[in-house]
Amino acid sequence: MTQFNPSGEYQPTGPSTRLNGAPAESDAHSLTVGNDGPIVLHDVHLVEQLAHFNRERVAERSPHAKGSGAFGTFKVTQDVTRYTKGAPFQPGAETRMLVRFSTVAGEQGSPDTWRDVRGFSVRFYSTAGNLDIVGNNTPIFFVKDPLKFPNFIRSQKRLPGSGLRNTNMQWDFWTNSPESAHQVTYLMGDRGLPATWRHMHGFSSHTYMWVNAEGEKFWVKYHWRSNQGLKNLTNEEATRLAGENADFHREDLYNAIERGEFPSWTLNMQVMPYEEAKTYRFNPFDLTKTWSQKDYPLIEVGVMELNENPTNFYAQIEQSAFSPSNYIPGTGLSPDKMLLARVFAYPDAQRARIGSNFHQLPVNQPITQTNNYAEQGHMQYLHTGLAPVHTFNGYGRPYTDAEVVDEAGWEADGSLVRAAITRHAEDDDFGQAGTLVREVYDEAQRERLVETVAGGLSQCRPEVQERGFWYWKQVDENVGQRIENRVRGLKTIEDEESVA
Ligand code: HEM
Repeated sequence: MTQFNPSGEYQPTGPSTRLNGAPAESDAHSLTVGNDGPIVLHDVHLVEQLAHFNRERVAERSPHAKGSGAFGTFKVTQDVTRYTKGAPFQPGAETRMLVRFSTVAGEQGSPDTWRDVRGFSVRFYSTAGNLDIVGNNTPIFFVKDPLKFPNFIRSQKRLPGSGLRNTNMQWDFWTNSPESAHQVTYLMGDRGLPATWRHMHGFSSHTYMWVNAEGEKFWVKYHWRSNQGLKNLTNEEATRLAGENADFHREDLYNAIERGEFPSWTLNMQVMPYEEAKTYRFNPFDLTKTWSQKDYPLIEVGVMELNENPTNFYAQIEQSAFSPSNYIPGTGLSPDKMLLARVFAYPDAQRARIGSNFHQLPVNQPITQTNNYAEQGHMQYLHTGLAPVHTFNGYGRPYTDAEVVDEAGWEADGSLVRAAITRHAEDDDFGQAGTLVREVYDEAQRERLVETVAGGLSQCRPEVQERGFWYWKQVDENVGQRIENRVRGLKTIEDEESVA
């Protein structure tokens, strides 16, 4: 009986075998010269076991290393065909999904409940190919130029010498990058410690494009609203759980699905007519800004339910390869520079992390038939038999060109420059962060924000603290002053040797 199965899963029967399918001689005793003698190199089963064990990990993701996920279904509930012809958003469509939640900075094995932004990666296995929306549980981000991204992540990871994480380095980066204020205000607020993955919202954060059947274009933002409601942990609860159960969020999601309590999220979109991007009061391609829901109210599309745990964490979650480059007809990118850089960065990371044919693994394969001339490379599995290996062939293997596929594009013109994105009427680094602090957070939330920020800044060098006071006073004078007073009342670290 063949073990081939497109899901990758097979049911082993009978005693164990070597990797060539022949019986393994023993799982208990290696082959030696006499009972106590040396081991011989031609003990194929032993050598195979040791060698394979040495290769049992792919590199962890550089950011977002710790996470987990589940499969599910997306069902359309409202007619949005006036905005998109995207296959999973058509009336009556039901699409299989994969979702992965994560923390950003911690490595594999790090506690789920450390304060951090949470990754919210969503894949639609649609009838038009894989559509991935690789977002977070916050609607904005720390930086808006991709050149800053690797440095941002380095500042959140570890010092070169001690290998320790370092609060001073984190605050040094943020306070030197004032565009981070909005995201940092989110992160230091209650949503920086979600109670479970089930109790948080998800966001595309970026602006994307939707295109309808008539070719009309819209700028859109995806919002996944948790139907479980929002719930957060206190600093004390999060710290306790980090010690008691590093996999608290992973376990919670897995057990909820095992119990049949399937978590769900309602997909809502903000939709901006194409032309309005030019004059909207905020630059709609600035990843540090939200669009007011008064200007662009949420439009319901459908409901995603997670109802199937992975049967193999490694094959289906660790080797999953989400990417903003996975878009389909009716959906597209936008001029957001961060998004355009991500389109390159993810598949490149996955070629390095998993291998050049990562897309051939069952979890990454689209349900549609592919016809692509990329071939060979490390671990090629799928192939096209004797079909031509060159496009523009005259032997019946179809090819395509721009005349039959319309790309979801936009116009661009100008000299090559290195410059900040265009400022619109109300764009500045601190305005929306101030609104969040004053109009969204209540006094109890503001107090917790002050306490959390003061706790962090008190572990920083004096010059970073001073910059921190300035930064927070720009967000909100009152909150900034309270943070300064709190930090000055706490013991500060003056020893320059102890921090980088
Ligand atoms: C220029 C900016 C960025 C770059 C270069 C970048 C790069 C990366 C890379 C290389 C990975 C690992 C991918 C893998 O190995 O599979 C990753 C993971 C991830 N990133 Fe980014 N990133 C950027 C910005 C963002 C933003 C703005 C968001 C959210 C809106 C985001 C959300 C995520 C998530 C959720 C994951 C985990 C994906 C998964 O679940 O497998 N990243 N990023």
